[in-house]
Amino acid sequence: MLSSVTPIRQLTDDFENRFRTGDTPWEDPHPWAGLDKLFERFASSGTSILDVGCGLGTNALRLATLGYRVRGIDVSQTAIEKAITRRNAAGLDCEFLCANIFTGDHGNWDIVFDRGCLHGFADTSSRARFALSVATVLQPGGLWIDISGSNENAESPDIIQKLALPRLTLADLAAATESNFETIEIRQGVFGMMPDTDFRAWVGIYRRRKFDILAVSSQYNMTSENLS
Ligand SMILES: C[S@@+](CC[C@H](N)C(=O)[O-])C[C@H]1O[C@@H](n2cnc3c(N)ncnc32)[C@H](O)[C@@H]1O
Repeated sequence: MLSSVTPIRQLTDDFENRFRTGDTPWEDPHPWAGLDKLFERFASSGTSILDVGCGLGTNALRLATLGYRVRGIDVSQTAIEKAITRRNAAGLDCEFLCANIFTGDHGNWDIVFDRGCLHGFADTSSRARFALSVATVLQPGGLWIDISGSNENAESPDIIQKLALPRLTLADLAAATESNFETIEIRQGVFGMMPDTDFRAWVGIYRRRKFDILAVSSQYNMTSENLS
């Protein structure tokens, strides 16, 4: 079903144009509110973290401040140049690279973090492809911490339609992650922007499996034939 997948090139150009023109309403000048506590729970000193779709680098820089080994990647050259300028001004040790998670070798990391990258893919197959790319840069047992817009908002359908924010269901998350990740927890949280709206997030913690569980279990599913 490749025809339903948005071409990677198109997404790259869209984001680059948005950073060039400053059309980036998701960019929060402050690190995501739950960042410190979450990493305190799941990461120890020296943990390596890849921030996929790091944008202007606000969260990556905060994680570097906390003492983790951090690389931020983003498809937008403009975003990465700005992140590097901010890093240099702050005198922090944090690597930023213009790169696409779908192509090339991005190394091997203890934790992948993304805020708003997964949820930007509009269809199930693109999100599953993104999750598989995340799995390939994690060692087995490595963690993926994902902050995605949630559909659990106490707003009217009119407002939801007008704002057109990315909102995933729990089923969307499961469809993307379940093959290659064990779910550790999914909590409701805040996305952290647009203060006048109640834009909630799913805060998901997933552990990379050693193998694709759905592919394997489909071979061994009980049928009425082998139960009789
Ligand atoms: C909604 S923005 C979130 C930016 C940042 N994480 C934040 O919290 O403000 C999504 C980001 O993902 C980046 N992105 C989208 N597709 C990507 C890909 N395939 N590889 C790397 N970055 C990607 C975009 O350029 C954009 O900066």
